[in-house]
Amino acid sequence: MAVKMIIGLQYGDEGKGRAVHYEAKNASIVIRATGGSNAGHTVVANGKKYAMHLLPSSIIRPEVLSMIGPGVVADLKILAEEIEQMREVGVKVEKDNFAISERTHITFPHHKQLDRLYEMLKENKVGTTGRGVGTTYEEKARRTNLRMCDLFLAESELKHKIAENLKVYNVLVAEANKLIEKGVYQEERFPLITIEEEYEYCMKYKETVQEFIRDTHPIIDEAIEKDDLVIIEGAQSFWLDNDHGDYPMTTSSHPNASGTASGAGIGPTLIREVVGVIKAYTSRIGNGPFVTELENETGDFIREWGHEYGTTTGRPRRTGWLDLVMIKHTKNTSGLTSLCVNHLDTIGKLDKINVCVGYQYKGQTIKHVPIDKENCEPIYQELKGGWETDTATTFEELPQEAQEYIKFIEDYTGVPVRYIGIGADEKRTIIK
Ligand code: IMP
Repeated sequence: MAVKMIIGLQYGDEGKGRAVHYEAKNASIVIRATGGSNAGHTVVANGKKYAMHLLPSSIIRPEVLSMIGPGVVADLKILAEEIEQMREVGVKVEKDNFAISERTHITFPHHKQLDRLYEMLKENKVGTTGRGVGTTYEEKARRTNLRMCDLFLAESELKHKIAENLKVYNVLVAEANKLIEKGVYQEERFPLITIEEEYEYCMKYKETVQEFIRDTHPIIDEAIEKDDLVIIEGAQSFWLDNDHGDYPMTTSSHPNASGTASGAGIGPTLIREVVGVIKAYTSRIGNGPFVTELENETGDFIREWGHEYGTTTGRPRRTGWLDLVMIKHTKNTSGLTSLCVNHLDTIGKLDKINVCVGYQYKGQTIKHVPIDKENCEPIYQELKGGWETDTATTFEELPQEAQEYIKFIEDYTGVPVRYIGIGADEKRTIIK
């Protein structure tokens, strides 16, 4: 059976939840590996819509052990609330189907303030989700942040660690407030978060999360030894990767395949399949280069039909044509074995579809992604759209033009398409 990974290849929100939920039916463990509550994973199953930020998409399958891995940073409030919300709608979240790594880092209230503070200071704003994710990773890199295991410390020890972690924050907020008072920035003052407040935050949400915190490695070891299927669920996407994406307009983790494997704690030789998830067009939330962006009626059309509004922030997403140069770049950098193409139904509503097959760059035609992607102009190939996917249940039942669109993606990238999404409900998935 072995280990399969599912990652995004564009700018997030490609519908990874669908592929994870589908694959999870044969899995014993699903591990969410990177990112934090900046992610918004939506699964539509059994006629219900589930929106998750931290819980793995497999949580709605009670027979699977859903796990939050060491590479994730978790906001305790959001996590505890998500657990409660799931329970309220009848989803099982118990010790035998959910585990949190004791190594998972905690996102504190002050991380969100720092997120706002950095965006305030920056001239070129990233347009973060404001969830304090990058600032948690920053304190993790500074080696002062707290992990899930710290929730079990004695009161004095826990408060001491919180105090250590707040030192840099205290200095920054005091300075930022001076600048706000002087009128340099037209922002609201930052109310200083205290050690006591963060201690209370830990205690309040510990009640809900503590029973799930475990050493997850022996559990993963056992599943691998038994040759069970283990799924690693990525978050965000390749082009938001802090090493390989559109730096500095990136997220703070490493959503490429290697970073995702590391976040789960599973070595590269064990990963048998890497499924890259894309939309049949491109969307992006937040700032940064977007070569095929459509700031016109066609872009609006895609946004409306594709419901392109952020799950986490509700912001309208930027939309544009599928950029195959970007996707091809991820083939080897993430070692893809197959693709999942979502929203084939959405793009088919247009009669003519453009697909980006190269770039005009500094007077040349290129077929790779240069570091200054913002200087690229798209070269398009026009394909025939105008299809209806409502009745199709197999690839062969898809209209000819829709099949050709998929084959075009396969030919260009050299990666086979295995899953095709033709509707929000997971049942509207075609396996090729
Ligand atoms: P951060 O991850 O909140 O720091 O935001 C950094 C960038 O990544 C911003 O452009 C966000 O909009 C983007 N981003 C982070 N998480 C997601 C996601 O799950 N989907 C889409 N974009 C995301």
